[in-house]
Amino acid sequence: MKVNWPERIWVNSPVRNLVQLKEVSWFRQNRPLRPGGLCLEIGCGRGEGAKLIYRNFSPRRLDAIDIDLSMINLACRRRPKNQDHLFFSVADALCLPYGDGLFDAVFNFGIIHHLEDWMQGIRESARVLVKGGVFYFEEIYPPLYANRLFRRLLAHPRENRFYGPDFHRALALAGMKIISPYHESRFGILGIAEKE
Ligand SMILES: C[S@@+](CC[C@H](N)C(=O)[O-])C[C@H]1O[C@@H](n2cnc3c(N)ncnc32)[C@H](O)[C@@H]1O
Repeated sequence: MKVNWPERIWVNSPVRNLVQLKEVSWFRQNRPLRPGGLCLEIGCGRGEGAKLIYRNFSPRRLDAIDIDLSMINLACRRRPKNQDHLFFSVADALCLPYGDGLFDAVFNFGIIHHLEDWMQGIRESARVLVKGGVFYFEEIYPPLYANRLFRRLLAHPRENRFYGPDFHRALALAGMKIISPYHESRFGILGIAEKE
């Protein structure tokens, strides 16, 4: 589900950039990647996360996809000239247009909770990873995005929502194992998993 205008203000804000900056350096510290890998970001929005991934992990190629054409247009316009192996395109995280076992890493900054069939989003991310590939994720739970205030303000799927234990189970079912350490509260999780 696309973001509505109040959430668009948040995801396109400098504060959101700072949060992602901290998260990407935490990812790199806890599970660096060999430079020259193939990486994918799902639900990239206006592309700030992708720029950080590119700078911090030096991939051979980074694909960044989003379902929202207006976000992808924005991301293309904002792409730094020297990041010429970064490609933005419109695609659906529920049905990724890539073969199995292709990517060394998949990044998810808060998009899985936007999917009606969120488990399919996790399965798709796992499917396109190589064995031993890394899933870097930041995800939030209903006490944050579906509390009384945000429920009115933001647009998210309402049915079939997940909390911490569901998210952990879905990763395991998709054949991914969380690597410690990870940060989790009742509001969400920041972590790293590997495809077994
Ligand atoms: C909360 S925003 C996060 C944007 C960005 N990753 C960030 O952290 O700032 C969720 C993003 O997921 C995208 N999205 C929602 N459903 C999607 C789907 N089925 N496939 C790909 N992207 C999707 C939305 O268009 C939106 O850009």
